[in-house]
Amino acid sequence: MAAAVSGSRDTVTIRHADLADLDCIVRIEAQSFPTPWSRSLLSTELRQPGSIYLVAVLGGVVAGFIGLWHVMDHGHICTLAVDPDARGQGLGELLVLAALDAAVGVGSDVVHLEYRVGNAPAAALYEKLGFERVGLRKGYYSDTGEDAILASVRQLSTDEGRARLDEAWQRWKSERGLQVAVE
Ligand SMILES: CC(C)(COP(=O)(O)OP(=O)(O)OC[C@H]1O[C@@H](n2cnc3c(N)ncnc32)[C@H](O)[C@@H]1OP(=O)(O)O)[C@@H](O)C(=O)NCCC(=O)NCCS
Repeated sequence: MAAAVSGSRDTVTIRHADLADLDCIVRIEAQSFPTPWSRSLLSTELRQPGSIYLVAVLGGVVAGFIGLWHVMDHGHICTLAVDPDARGQGLGELLVLAALDAAVGVGSDVVHLEYRVGNAPAAALYEKLGFERVGLRKGYYSDTGEDAILASVRQLSTDEGRARLDEAWQRWKSERGLQVAVE
C-alpha cells in the first residue's frame, strides 16, 4: 500500500468516496484492471447522480473502492477493486456488503454485476456472498474478448434478505481480525 500515514491498522472505515480520494482510486484502478477507467471517467462517476462510490480506509489510506449504480429497485455493482498490497484480508467482501446495504438503503431489491469468466477471486467472492449466476455474455470485454458472467442477488429488501445480509456481516466480523466503522 502507499505511504505510511496515521490511522489504526485494526479498524477499517467504510465511507462515501469524494474527489479527494481520486488519486488513490485512480492508482488502485490502474493496478487492478487490464483496461483501467480513466481519471476523467472516474471523476465523473464520483459525481454522477445515481452512483454511490464507497472506499475502504485502512491505516489512514484508501485501500479499496466499490461503485454502485442504482435505478428504481435495481442496483448494479459497476466496479470493485482492492489495492494489491491489501488483498486477502476481507476488504473486497466488506466493500460488497457495504454496497449491498447502500443499495437497500436507496430502495434496491436486486443487485446485478458482471465479471470476467477467468476472474476466479471475483467469482469466489460473489458466490460467497450469495450472488447467483444468471447468464453469460459472449465476448463482453472488448479489450480481451473474454466472456462475462452475469450474477445477481435478489430479494434484498425482504426480511429474509435482511437476515442473510446481517448474517454475512456477522460472519465477516467473526472471521476477520478487524473492527469496522461505517460512516
Ligand atoms: C476481487 C478482489 C476485489 C477481492 O478483494 P480482496 O480484498 O482480496 O478479497 P477478500 O479478502 O475480501 O476475500 C473475500 C473472498 O473472496 C474470495 N477470494 C478473494 N481473493 C481470492 C483469490 N485470490 N482466490 C480465490 N478466492 C479469492 C474468497 O472467497 C474470499 O473469502 P475467504 O477469505 O473466506 O476465502 C481483488 O482481488 C481485486 O481487486 N481484484 C482486481 C479487480 C477485480 O477483479 N475486481 C472485481 C471485478 S468484477
